[in-house]
Amino acid sequence: MRKAAVGTALVCAATACAVAALIVRHRMKNSSRWSRAMAILKEFEEKCATPIGKLWMVADAMAVEMHAGLASDGGSKLKMLISYVDNLPTGYEKGLFYALDLGGTNFRVLRVQLGGKEKDVKQQAMEAIIPPHLMIGGSNELFDFIAAKLAEFVSSESGDFQLPAGRQRELGFTFSFPVRQTSLASGTLIKWTKGFSIDEMIGEDVVSELTKAMERQGLDMRVTALVNDTVGTLAGGRYSDKDVVSAVILGTGTNAAYVEKAHAIPKWHGLLPKSGEMVINMEWGNFRSSHLPLTDYDLSLDAESLNPGEQIFEKIISGMYLGEILRRVLLRLAEEASLFGDVVPPTLSVPFSLRTPVMSAMHHDSSPDLRVVESKLKEILGVVNTSLKTRKLVVELCHIIARRGARLSAAAIVGILKKQGRDTSTEKQRTVVAMDGGLYEHYSEFSERLEGTLTEMLGETVASTVTVTRATDGSGIGAALLAASHSQYLGTEES
Ligand code: GLC
Repeated sequence: MRKAAVGTALVCAATACAVAALIVRHRMKNSSRWSRAMAILKEFEEKCATPIGKLWMVADAMAVEMHAGLASDGGSKLKMLISYVDNLPTGYEKGLFYALDLGGTNFRVLRVQLGGKEKDVKQQAMEAIIPPHLMIGGSNELFDFIAAKLAEFVSSESGDFQLPAGRQRELGFTFSFPVRQTSLASGTLIKWTKGFSIDEMIGEDVVSELTKAMERQGLDMRVTALVNDTVGTLAGGRYSDKDVVSAVILGTGTNAAYVEKAHAIPKWHGLLPKSGEMVINMEWGNFRSSHLPLTDYDLSLDAESLNPGEQIFEKIISGMYLGEILRRVLLRLAEEASLFGDVVPPTLSVPFSLRTPVMSAMHHDSSPDLRVVESKLKEILGVVNTSLKTRKLVVELCHIIARRGARLSAAAIVGILKKQGRDTSTEKQRTVVAMDGGLYEHYSEFSERLEGTLTEMLGETVASTVTVTRATDGSGIGAALLAASHSQYLGTEES
């Protein structure tokens, strides 16, 4: 009996020891995994740092590159494209005009009835999604699709929107890619950005491609203005506030336009406009500088993108890429620190599987136990049972990525203010920046950080003279306004 009892006790003790050893090993494994995760996080945070001194170097570099891009074509990574918009809306524009806005995965068509000096604007819009295969297919396919949607929209014109008899419909075309304009209503595509890639379009005249497609649809419409979204936003912004002197887009892509003195554009060989001014489309998404805080994740994202070596600034700031940067960091954490357990969630290896709106939702999760983060990780990556510690880490990553993007965007705006001589002014000169784009509109951690950084850089006094105003969908109205101010019927009665 005794022997048996001793035996049993020994077996129990041995089992307890083994279990304890397992627990200790498990804990050690967990703690070494966790310290690996912390090391990866810390390294990432350091590489993304944007102290104020660095931001000023970025702002200075932006201003220097602006000069170089204005001096000659190819003088800088910044294309500094001449928009041929030398007169912004006056507020007297009148009549029915159409606008078409193509620049991302969605496109919009608008019908705008401008009421003249009462600035009474009526509008109707229709939105459609560009099927992904058309973004990388042939140019006829893309333009036929767009023209067909436009024709469908035109056919629904109603009594409120009246075209005087015998007139041709006129359109402002917002085409948000880098275009070398040859006049206000013509220009050739330099390259694609934001996931579009249709080689046969490069070097082609964008307006004649659209015009041919409209003809194929039996649509009699004339393009009287071809504008970038930044230029459209600037025009739309100026219509409602005369102090708007620049526009910034923070959406799928990012870019800015501003009003420049025509004589400060050495590469401008045309007639000096009466206004003495010209709107410049900077194409700042292609900005690159040794001062930009780039990480290995950014470099591999770029190398594997459709446009390697291009749009580096855009790739660390804009809505198309922020979620993808997060995915890349999480993938490394899953592989090297088993952040989501022993198996790496397969979706995490799929490029662009984690979109910026998801990142934004996780970043804004204010529940104490981070329920939104938990449900997004489950829904998108199929990861269940995440610890609070893991979820906090995910939020911290969102914070690092968004903060870098927002602070760099602010530095770039300061670069423009510097070029315009508006970064030190203490006079009562008001400077308004019209801002549009889904990232700015929907990601408040981003927009608030951007505005805070502007104040941090400029100081309270100067910052109080600079206003950032939301110009939601301003580029469509802006294009319609520019179509109106360049109408073929200008000067005739009722125009
Ligand atoms: C990309 C385009 C640019 C556009 C911006 C915002 O950077 O190249 O033309 O303005 O996206 O849509």
